[in-house]
Amino acid sequence: MTAPEETIISVDPDSQRSLRERGLEYRIADMAVDADAEGFLRADARGFLDEDPTDAELAQMRETMRTRRNIGVYDPEGGAWPIATVNSWVTPLSLPGGEIDMWAISSVTVAGTHRRRGIARSLLEGELRAAARAGVPIAGLTASEATIYGRYGFGPAVPVMRFTVDTARAGWGGSETSEGRLVYADKQSLADDLERLHEASRTLRSGQVPGWRGRWQRMAGLAEGDKEAAAVRGVRFIGADGAVQGAMAYTLAEVPGGFRSEMRIRSIITVSDEALRAIWRFVVQHDLVTSARVDLRPIDDPLPWLVADQRAVTAEVHDHGWLRVLDIEAALAARSYSAPLDIVLRVDDPLGFAAGDWRIVIDDSGRARVAATSDSPDVTLGVVELSTIYAGGVPATQLAAAGRIHGDSDAVSALSRAFLTTPSAFLGIWY
Ligand SMILES: CC(C)(COP(=O)(O)OP(=O)(O)OC[C@H]1O[C@@H](n2cnc3c(N)ncnc32)[C@H](O)[C@@H]1OP(=O)(O)O)[C@@H](O)C(=O)NCCC(=O)NCCS
Repeated sequence: MTAPEETIISVDPDSQRSLRERGLEYRIADMAVDADAEGFLRADARGFLDEDPTDAELAQMRETMRTRRNIGVYDPEGGAWPIATVNSWVTPLSLPGGEIDMWAISSVTVAGTHRRRGIARSLLEGELRAAARAGVPIAGLTASEATIYGRYGFGPAVPVMRFTVDTARAGWGGSETSEGRLVYADKQSLADDLERLHEASRTLRSGQVPGWRGRWQRMAGLAEGDKEAAAVRGVRFIGADGAVQGAMAYTLAEVPGGFRSEMRIRSIITVSDEALRAIWRFVVQHDLVTSARVDLRPIDDPLPWLVADQRAVTAEVHDHGWLRVLDIEAALAARSYSAPLDIVLRVDDPLGFAAGDWRIVIDDSGRARVAATSDSPDVTLGVVELSTIYAGGVPATQLAAAGRIHGDSDAVSALSRAFLTTPSAFLGIWY
């Protein structure tokens, strides 16, 4: 965390006031205090329609939440658990040519008894003000529904791919040889591999954020309460140099009636193309497996080019990483760009953070200078659209074609070329 601790932990006074006027208390839920921790975690699980956690699950979840700024909304007449929850932490977001501090937001829940009274709005706007006050230039989240967060200025900036593979039909079309080898990994080694490989690979693509210990344990079948834990298997790819270059966690679920199984892939993380090819080959050629499913793959994953029959691979692109620019000057200066640019952007932001007319000059070195200007705009867009194109994962020209970015078409094309990035932006985890 680079922001001062006191600004991180204080709650937003405006949201505190507006919720107090409705008889609700908005305060930090302290994970060091048993009652606070238990109430927050049970309310969080209820909000996401999960079963009530066991004591062992609570203990494991509490470890993760200790590193976050957890806020509960308490109704004096609504029981001991908060009726709404949110948490946040400052984490690096990888970008082309660098990283930026991002205010990650999670655990957004409002109890079914208190829905649609503006409580989520108070939570979200409170988070954005707290982030801006702490000097964090951008906020991010992953969303349960795609219709919730646009109203607060978030855009679906990092699309990902979901694959369903008819393995019986696909056939391997890639190379038959590899310098390295695949070996099975026990659950603890698998958790360690996934954690290390994610950390090693996350700066290779724009849009990634670090994971945390509890997440890798969950992927590897080590989390309390994981009903499929016993079914989790892992493989790792060891390169010719002896280093682990990739790992996959998966389960096999029997398809009724045929002694055949579906492979459900929890995670594939690789740091080399060779490792990814070897893991895909293991999936496509696995005996007694008729289909494989995996979500959260990069939209430029090579899988369709590794099989003999591309029609055996169903690829669905969907929204995943949502970003919200707060400080446009700091955000645009934090990344590098693919082409030079000299343009005036008019940004509309109903919450005010990024609003204004901004001249953006990108020189041959690929870095941007951004300053407020009184010159007339070449391109006009909302903060949702700015946030959507920010990480280089969505072309500005696509949003212009949808009528969501306006302006001179040469200027929009230049904006698009400058912002897009290769390899494609990617976010490999939910948070
Ligand atoms: C999503 C959730 C947090 C909304 O809480 P809420 O307090 O009812 O929301 P608010 O009353 O503050 O509504 C704010 C706005 O969001 C809209 N909204 C609320 N829930 C929505 C949903 N699920 N889908 C789309 N829009 C939604 C409201 O209509 C309102 O719109 P407006 O600004 O045009 O008036 C709540 O329904 C919930 O806890 N859902 C289950 C857990 C979940 O999915 N959390 C999100 C995790 S990413």
